[in-house]
Amino acid sequence: MDVQRISTGISGLDRMLHGGLIAGRVYLVKGAPGTGKTTLAMHFAMAGVANGEDVLYVTLEEPADNIRVDMTRMGFNLRDPHFTLIDATPTVERYVLISDFFETFAENIEKMTDAIKKQFQEKRYSRIVIDPITMLKLTAAREIDYRRAFLSFIKTMMRLRTTVLLTSELEKTGIEEYLVSGVIELKTFELGGRLSRGVRITKFRGSGFDSATRPYEITSSGIVVYPDRTISLP
Ligand SMILES: Nc1ncnc2c1ncn2[C@@H]1O[C@H](COP(=O)(O)OP(=O)(O)O)[C@@H](O)[C@H]1O
Ligand SMILES: [Mg+2]
Repeated sequence: MDVQRISTGISGLDRMLHGGLIAGRVYLVKGAPGTGKTTLAMHFAMAGVANGEDVLYVTLEEPADNIRVDMTRMGFNLRDPHFTLIDATPTVERYVLISDFFETFAENIEKMTDAIKKQFQEKRYSRIVIDPITMLKLTAAREIDYRRAFLSFIKTMMRLRTTVLLTSELEKTGIEEYLVSGVIELKTFELGGRLSRGVRITKFRGSGFDSATRPYEITSSGIVVYPDRTISLP
């Protein structure tokens, strides 16, 4: 059976992925704060919206209002009716205001899985972003419980036939990296006294991929990846 490739919304990254992500699987984007995970995730979301697909974006750290302002400034249209942004950030006011909602979505990965299943009763989302999953991991009491719940999350997402992009700030994302179908790493380094950014694919099941670190930039219209250039470390 032929796999369906879908665009990340970043043409240079699609090139590195030999045509795009394989639909219906779960992927991880990891990187330190400020490397562009949210921006990359928004490219992925909006590429779906551009196809007329319904997309669900769950934000767990950055308040939705900030995402709206920052991403609108980069030229993304978050008002598109095909785009649903769910604020599951644990700020005090929100926690009080919509505590049920917060708990449903973000208390732990089991509840997140259930909440997404519930969302699917109203609408079928072909793409989902969870940005970042860090919190869900930190709330898990035991590693083994988290592992089981994370695996169950992946199976549920595959059953729902949706493509999921998770972001993570944790350097140690061992379990997730084993269980997801692909990992994209965003890195910042200092090169000749200048800040330089590099993207690397470390895993992509079911496909060949460019394993080199390629330079990327964050611009006023989002991320640009240069798949033909190399980063020469000093
Ligand atoms: N117009 C712009 N030009 C260049 N860099 C920008 C622009 N807008 C935002 N950035 C950079 O994008 C980064 C934030 O991206 P974001 O996707 O929020 O990262 P993360 O989610 O990994 O924390 C910051 O490092 C910021 O400096
Ligand atoms: Mg972010």
